[in-house]
Amino acid sequence: MSTHIGAQPGEIAPVVLLPGDPLRAKWIAETYLEEATCYSEVRGMLGFTGTWQGHRVSVQGSGMGQPSMAIYVNELFDQYDVQSIVRVGSCGGLSEKVAVRDVIIASGACTDSAMNRITFEGFDYAPVADFGLLRAAVDAAATREATTHVGLIFSADSSFYASRPELMMRMAGYGVLGVEMEASALYTIAARWGRKALAVCTVSDHVVTGAETSAYERERTLADMVEIALEAAFS
Ligand code: ADE
Repeated sequence: MSTHIGAQPGEIAPVVLLPGDPLRAKWIAETYLEEATCYSEVRGMLGFTGTWQGHRVSVQGSGMGQPSMAIYVNELFDQYDVQSIVRVGSCGGLSEKVAVRDVIIASGACTDSAMNRITFEGFDYAPVADFGLLRAAVDAAATREATTHVGLIFSADSSFYASRPELMMRMAGYGVLGVEMEASALYTIAARWGRKALAVCTVSDHVVTGAETSAYERERTLADMVEIALEAAFS
């Protein structure tokens, strides 16, 4: 097993869905996977492997924020030879073009995190999604009811309780659609390992309008997002 994931080699599939919330990982495994088994409970960050339409797939919780997510993703790539990771999570709407319940497929991710700046000693790296996964997700989304957007998101270290929320809002003026907390580092780490990554997010709240989704709506949009992610991963 790796330091933070309690799986033996071979217990994790080459394709991993990555929700932040470990209980959402459990819900995805119970709802979508056949013969799912739990391979890790370390720190309560649950991971499951099963099959979806005959394809072996794992679902791993990542926790909130880029430092937590980076631990799991580095170990998945390094210790378990994972080839593709699709983050499935929620985001806040920033642009007036998006509404709650919409799905955002993130072609790239801006950030206020210092992780990339430290890696590149002050240079700005532009973290982007794997184009094959991105294109497959866009195709998969076209057959669904959910309104889907493709574009930039903002991966914030300081979001919910930001001391300068207007800085995050400025991003919307430059085409950024929504805010979450993981995609930027996910894309950079995938590039570092030469692997594939994509983030598909449902808009659970809108930072400008204050709109929020009901529990029922969250479940419905969650289903759209997970199905888009699975179809994209195995297209
Ligand atoms: N995930 C869902 N809503 C969010 C928000 N407003 N900020 C950051 N991450 C989020």
